[in-house]
Amino acid sequence: MPMIRVEKILEEPELYILRIDDDQIKYFEATWDIPEGITYNAYLMKTGDAVILFDAWKTDYTEQFLETLSKIVDPKDITHIIVHHTEPDHSGALPKVLEANGYKALVIGTSFAKRFMEGFYGEKIVENFHAITDGEELQIGGRTFRFITVPWLHWPDTMITYVVEDKLIFSCDAGGGYGIPETIDDSDEKVVEEYLPHVTKYIVTVIGHYHKYIVENIKKLKGLGIIEEAKMILPGHGLIWRKDPLRIFKHYEDVGAGKAKKGKILVIYDSMYGFVERRMKIVIDELKKHGYNPVVYRFTDKEAPAVSDILGEVPDSEGIVIGVSTYEAGIHPRIRYTLYEMLDKANYEKPILVVGAFGWAGVAGKEIEHLITRSKFDHVDTVESRGMPRTEDEERIKEAVRNLIARLS
Ligand code: FEO
Repeated sequence: MPMIRVEKILEEPELYILRIDDDQIKYFEATWDIPEGITYNAYLMKTGDAVILFDAWKTDYTEQFLETLSKIVDPKDITHIIVHHTEPDHSGALPKVLEANGYKALVIGTSFAKRFMEGFYGEKIVENFHAITDGEELQIGGRTFRFITVPWLHWPDTMITYVVEDKLIFSCDAGGGYGIPETIDDSDEKVVEEYLPHVTKYIVTVIGHYHKYIVENIKKLKGLGIIEEAKMILPGHGLIWRKDPLRIFKHYEDVGAGKAKKGKILVIYDSMYGFVERRMKIVIDELKKHGYNPVVYRFTDKEAPAVSDILGEVPDSEGIVIGVSTYEAGIHPRIRYTLYEMLDKANYEKPILVVGAFGWAGVAGKEIEHLITRSKFDHVDTVESRGMPRTEDEERIKEAVRNLIARLS
């Protein structure tokens, strides 16, 4: 059962996190395998005569959200609802909150958010809506709330809120991650270390298609000087960052830019009957011989790793090797899907080597080469041959691995 956590984060202004740990979800966005689960974080602030709700929970947890919220405040007393992003994992419970509120609260968001909310939940929900302009400041309960648009983090509707006097950034998807951390904040280094790979996987699978906007938006926030001075980053998923608020945006920046970890080579392959596997053993041994660290994901008749996990390995890899079987005059289905998602979600300027095996005609390698040369990836070489690798095939594969290594910065 999902656990609910409510904690007071600050005394002045009085600020609470309302977090539900969704351990029931299997496939985020009905696609991405997340056995690690996810949290939905909403926040409630009481300041002066204002009671402000920042986002909510997923629709499935509407009842639990209202119950939890009602323990801190009577929903009728909420004066403002700030909607950073309308994806229903954050906005799903809002129609019932507004109903309980009697539609008295001023709903604040971007004009995109207004349009999306109306589309999702009907006209009534946006009757009392204030559409902000980028950088606009509103005085609420004696504090200054600055709203900054961060388009494509994760949708065009997305904005963050900066509470000027307290240097708080409410960032919704930006700064979030998959996983259900044991703590609510970054105070425990062990928890942070375990959590960050889930953040990378989240960034690539959820925001990866727009990853250049991660870098652009962080540059924008840095330009405004608010990242450096922030005392706390409060995302819509995962940990709150208050021990080291800079760390999460630095991590986002690195993933957005595809910053590589020295020596890491991602090796992905299918092997139906062992022919590709034999080739990949040659690849892996040659990589290790030159001091590289191959991180291997294989599709066989006994294992099928989650594509979401593979995608999460791409940003910090120095290079990639794809091993593939020709299957019905095309790419093996598992590799085809993995590659399709890689090109869409994790399209970085990294070198790729393709190694293939076939029965009667080599097609898969050439097809992959065709796709890669039209992406940002840097195609190094394609080595394809029939059946069991012979001595000359082995030499050719080793040479191709050395060419890949020569291409690494
Ligand atoms: Fe967490 Fe894009 O929603």
